[in-house]
Amino acid sequence: MSVASVKGVRDLLPGEAERWQAAELVARAVFRAYGFAEIRIPIIESNELFVRSVGEATDIVEKEMFTFPDRHGELLCLRPEGTAPVVRAFIENKLYATDPVAKLFYIGPMFRYERPQRGRYRQFHQIGAEVLGVAEPLLDAEVLEMVVHLVGRLGVTGVELQLNSLGDARCRPAFLTALQGFLRSVRAELCGDCHRRLEVNPLRVLDCKNEGCQAVLARAPLVSEALCAECRAHYEAVKASLRQQGVAFVEHPRLVRGLDYYVRTAFELVATTGLGAKNEVAAGGRYDGLVRDLGGPDVPGMGFAIGMERLMALLPEGSSEPAQPFLFVASVGQTGEAAWRLMTELRHEGVPAEAGYEGKSLKSQLRRAHKLGALYVAILGEDELNAGQITLRDMKAQRQDAVPLARARQEIVARWASR
Ligand code: HAM
Repeated sequence: MSVASVKGVRDLLPGEAERWQAAELVARAVFRAYGFAEIRIPIIESNELFVRSVGEATDIVEKEMFTFPDRHGELLCLRPEGTAPVVRAFIENKLYATDPVAKLFYIGPMFRYERPQRGRYRQFHQIGAEVLGVAEPLLDAEVLEMVVHLVGRLGVTGVELQLNSLGDARCRPAFLTALQGFLRSVRAELCGDCHRRLEVNPLRVLDCKNEGCQAVLARAPLVSEALCAECRAHYEAVKASLRQQGVAFVEHPRLVRGLDYYVRTAFELVATTGLGAKNEVAAGGRYDGLVRDLGGPDVPGMGFAIGMERLMALLPEGSSEPAQPFLFVASVGQTGEAAWRLMTELRHEGVPAEAGYEGKSLKSQLRRAHKLGALYVAILGEDELNAGQITLRDMKAQRQDAVPLARARQEIVARWASR
């Protein structure tokens, strides 16, 4: 019996992997233009990191983490998201000491034990970015403008930027008290999870996925209506900057996000067509207290993550061919050694070159070259080689020329350069 993959994870096969690479290249170029540097964070982290950042009473920490003890009993997990690890790395490596502003991006797999469905996997990938060290609302607008631009540059059309403000440590406590009062009054209509959360973390009740709960929650007080003067001013400034930059957005007063670390700005980028139920392509917001809560200095933060599986599902299929050889080297008779040398020299020059592995007939080697999509075939036959020549066949034009062996490499490199 063969062994199958783990539920909720996928292989990215040649062809699809090239499409992902192309998208990642665009993302890297955009990050560079906006002044972001790459950070590579580990895939395993301490379980505690996410308990203290994403929050103990969240779906992610309560139900979705891949948590396991290592051989000494230390509780580790596969990272469910990238913000907390970036903040941990920022603190641990004292990045704040070299520059008061850190602009970091990451691309990689994340893990959540969710019920798999279209657009929702247990191993999925994020393109994420975090800015640490800037409290000004202009930064929020800059980050939002960037994510909208990035998604557009990648070829996605039909997304809506949904925006809200979640208040901060000053105004949220009063809101939570009001919310808790409301939730207690409708307790009987809420699910078991909500019963528990309304006591320990009432904000999390608002993103309960249960439909019955959602209907009741439509009557709940709104966080955006309970903002203190500073949070309100911040939110207004973010919106004004977005309008100035011509970035379209929709205010979404019920948007709360499923992670505890957010304050003030929170957003989601939602696909208006093409994704079905799991239509949130990217999401993020501000997390000003997180660095301090994880043991670092009091440095504000703001960022986002794009879900790559959802992003790729929105992109036009386009060219998804795996890399094709430019040249196929066909060896006829005892010319294998020369063929291999030519192929290796060309590869060292950066020309994609392939050869047949078995001593097959010229006809079958040409068939293979055609199948691989090679544009040229170098034919090395015994007689020709003795005469110091090879045959270079242009597969598209169906023409072939004799080329002196001594000049073959130069000639092929020139054709590759002018392709
Ligand atoms: P998140 O909303 O949990 O935020 O995830 C961001 C994006 O990852 C989602 O919008 C979605 O596209 C994708 N995603 C999440 N879960 C899955 C899944 N199971 N399968 C496929 N795609 C998924 C965060 O992770 C925050 N760290 C974002 C952030 C960065 N906030 C500030 N900085």
